[in-house]
Amino acid sequence: MLAASQAIGMNISLSMKNEKIQKKLTEILTQRSRKFSEIEKNYILPFEPSNFPYFLKKNFNQYNGFILEIGSGWGEFTLELAKQNRDSLIIALEKKKKRIIRSIKNQKKENIENIRWMLLDVSWYFEDIFAENSFDHIIINFPDPWPKKKHHKHRILTENFLNSITNISKNGTLFEFASDYWPYIYDALFVIENSKYWQNINGKGVLLNNIKDRPESYFQKLKTEEGENTYFLQAEKL
Ligand SMILES: C[S@@+](CC[C@H](N)C(=O)[O-])C[C@H]1O[C@@H](n2cnc3c(N)ncnc32)[C@H](O)[C@@H]1O
Repeated sequence: MLAASQAIGMNISLSMKNEKIQKKLTEILTQRSRKFSEIEKNYILPFEPSNFPYFLKKNFNQYNGFILEIGSGWGEFTLELAKQNRDSLIIALEKKKKRIIRSIKNQKKENIENIRWMLLDVSWYFEDIFAENSFDHIIINFPDPWPKKKHHKHRILTENFLNSITNISKNGTLFEFASDYWPYIYDALFVIENSKYWQNINGKGVLLNNIKDRPESYFQKLKTEEGENTYFLQAEKL
């Protein structure tokens, strides 16, 4: 057994190690974010910790609403969402650069102005990027399910992550989570319905199989073609 003083010493060195790792991850994200072409940069929201927190309403005051999408993939859903909501700005976070570059190409082709992309792994860094009360609508579509128990720690939606989302949401913000993987959507339901800040707008335990007029994401189409069911959870911040 460790003496108390040894245990405290161990905690301090562990947190110093964590701090070091976090600093390194932050540096990597900052460097990666700077490596877009000058044209692409017009559509990028830079990962620049010195600019955090972003006050979107101040920097983009021509928009009436702000929508956050996490894990935007190749951007098909994002582009359609932007066309449906011309007076809102969509902030799309995605960890894979190639997917953002392709998305920007399509955004330019379609002359869509109201999307900004951020190259970001949200499990590396998320808190502090956006000011409190930033978003009216937050969306996670078909996140990687990480089915093995030992990999659950890689899932995006956890209780901690929901707390971070809560901080940047307004009262009345709509949170939508979609998946074809039943155990993950079931866990998401549990996390949301156990939070005092969120309420399932369709009734306790209720999931939808589709939402009228909602654009289909690439993975939604894929899973539907494969004959899988899709599930949507919609919650409102209280
Ligand atoms: C299964 S795909 C779904 C893409 C899109 N939402 C759709 O429904 O077609 C999951 C996406 O989330 C991104 N992603 C996974 N973990 C992430 C993380 N920690 N931070 C940011 N993006 C992430 C992946 O790179 C991938 O593009």
